[in-house]
Amino acid sequence: MKLFIDSAVPDEVKKMWDAGIIDGVTTNPTLAAKSGIEYKKAVEEILATVDGDISLEVLSTDTEGMVAEGQKLAKLHHNVVVKIPTTPEGLKALKTLNQEGIRVNMTLVFSPNQALLVAKQNAYIVSPFAGRLDDIGHSAMDTISEIRQIYDNYQFETQILFASVRSPLHVKQAALAGTDIATCPFDVLEKLIKHPLTDIGLKKFLDDFKASKQEPLVQS
Ligand code: E4P
Repeated sequence: MKLFIDSAVPDEVKKMWDAGIIDGVTTNPTLAAKSGIEYKKAVEEILATVDGDISLEVLSTDTEGMVAEGQKLAKLHHNVVVKIPTTPEGLKALKTLNQEGIRVNMTLVFSPNQALLVAKQNAYIVSPFAGRLDDIGHSAMDTISEIRQIYDNYQFETQILFASVRSPLHVKQAALAGTDIATCPFDVLEKLIKHPLTDIGLKKFLDDFKASKQEPLVQS
């Protein structure tokens, strides 16, 4: 399973890329607004840092505008995946961009039927928003498992991206549901490697060895 960072902050992206934790990046207009520096500059830095899929979202809501923006975004870099909202207009834009060989991530997906339609149009990625479903008392895990089942039933190749991650539990749920990708905020990625018993166990190993006065096998 691939892990992406959901961020438009170049420093966050670089830290996670250098740590070998992420395979790609997703952004959205809200994250762009929070990037802390000029958005164009942020995207340039991210494209120069990460050699993996980087989803950049269109701002148009009509098919023609989405297609025009998508074509321009795709020309920025070969790693760009164009992010399109899953609306009737977006579905038409997907069809056109796909015919032109442009990779599309269909975003703001909340139902298995939306996921079915975008897979039938060969979207490169589908992004069901788990956290926002859980926020309103729906079971994101059920929705995403159903999408997985539907895609497996028909051998759809669209990659399922578990989006709107809120906690490490969501990452585990993404893996258990067999999604292809989970995109996570910086703080969730940071938490994935940590466990208090690891820290306690390591401290005890080192304290015990020091107390024994044994010579280490090698020097660091
Ligand atoms: C995914 O690509 C989206 O950018 C993202 O996961 C949205 O998450 P949110 O619900 O935390 O805004």
